[in-house]
Amino acid sequence: MNILILGSGGREHTFTWKLAQSPKVSQLFVAPGNAGTAALAKNIPIGVNDFEAIKEVVLSKGIHMVVVGPEDPLVNGVHDFFLNDPELRDIQVIGPQKLAANLEGSKEFAKQFMHRHNIPTAAYQSFTVEQLENGLAFLETMPPPYVLKADGLAAGKGVVILSDLEKAKQELTSMLKEAKFGAASSRVVVEEFLTGIELSVFVLTDGKNFKVLPTAKDYKRIGEGDTGLNTGGMGAISPVPFANKDFMDKVHARIIKPTVEGLRTDGLPYKGFIFIGLIKVGNDPYVIEYNVRMGDPETEVVVPRIETDLAEVFQAVADQALDKVDLQIDERSATTVMTVSGGYPEAYEKGHTIFGLEDVFDSLIFHAGTKLENGNVVTNGGRVMAFTSFGTNFRDALAKSYKSIEKIDFDKMNYRKDIGFDL
Ligand code: AMP
Ligand code: GLY
Repeated sequence: MNILILGSGGREHTFTWKLAQSPKVSQLFVAPGNAGTAALAKNIPIGVNDFEAIKEVVLSKGIHMVVVGPEDPLVNGVHDFFLNDPELRDIQVIGPQKLAANLEGSKEFAKQFMHRHNIPTAAYQSFTVEQLENGLAFLETMPPPYVLKADGLAAGKGVVILSDLEKAKQELTSMLKEAKFGAASSRVVVEEFLTGIELSVFVLTDGKNFKVLPTAKDYKRIGEGDTGLNTGGMGAISPVPFANKDFMDKVHARIIKPTVEGLRTDGLPYKGFIFIGLIKVGNDPYVIEYNVRMGDPETEVVVPRIETDLAEVFQAVADQALDKVDLQIDERSATTVMTVSGGYPEAYEKGHTIFGLEDVFDSLIFHAGTKLENGNVVTNGGRVMAFTSFGTNFRDALAKSYKSIEKIDFDKMNYRKDIGFDL
């Protein structure tokens, strides 16, 4: 089987690394990929939203399956594009169709879905610019802090949490009236603030059956102790120690099962990953958000723990035969630590050579923002590369990731030294 992976981050390098181990895979392509994927597959320099170019590649390279990494092409309907094209109809696509991708593409859609299926989540109301006065009045009825969410995709920046009522009113006004997040904030969800610890649960579904993948917890803020600006993710661990059997039974019964059943009964076609962002309030799980893809850097700890052939698992997703798959999970803990360019998530430089990679033996290195330049691996993004290690517990695993990072260097390298600090 020839597989094309769409995307260019650590998530896609991890998929590539795992699929490259499968005897079922003949040729692997990644579009556009990075220096890490180039070592395992053929990179193709096209954008993930350039559907015509993707079609050209799929036909000319004899691709059988397309694995979609990021949310953008899914929300833009890449799966539907394949189904609607007679030449592409039989190509398998891992990722939901557009209608279902709305679970990530629209917060309001996700909220209504949860409401319809009695899935626990924060209470909310949503407002458009015409309803601004109602929105401001609603804020006055709520206790702080105030959670405001742009309805649409806003590159992970669309959620604003404020403790001051006046600031919250200004923010709501700016989101709706001044289109602070562009079209994404033409509708804003205002919701109840939930207090607890966050974790993520990943589910792979074929639309009928599902498998629960290992749990993970990521660290989104740039600064130690979860301070400073939000990033794409600075590190992750799997499994999450506090997600014990009792808690996971609740997640299963109250969230995972009704989610997969809800997709089916609502007629939302889904063959792919469901990433459920949860918060544990007391001992009860609540959904913070759905994503219609794997997380990054969560993939870098979840996928290495999957022992089963991933190509076989994806094939079962495509064939609606996931119930026949016996998913084996490595019991060990995995951690990943992301090295980033100095300055990220604000302005940063690119093009710095990365030294010392050949000295790393105890960790898997998953490239995020890298490229090859004259045979050297150079930085090409804010998040540069993730160092994943295994251990009997997450602290053992982390120690290995940190030791590996000490062996490498690039100009202005930065990383968080406190991943797992709150566990
Ligand atoms: P999201 O983009 O939906 O993941 O939201 C970004 C972050 O905002 C989450 O990871 C949470 O830390 C926080 N957050 C979102 N919704 C809530 C909520 N209702 N209560 C508390 N924190 C929240
Ligand atoms: N690490 C969070 C995400 O992938 O959305």
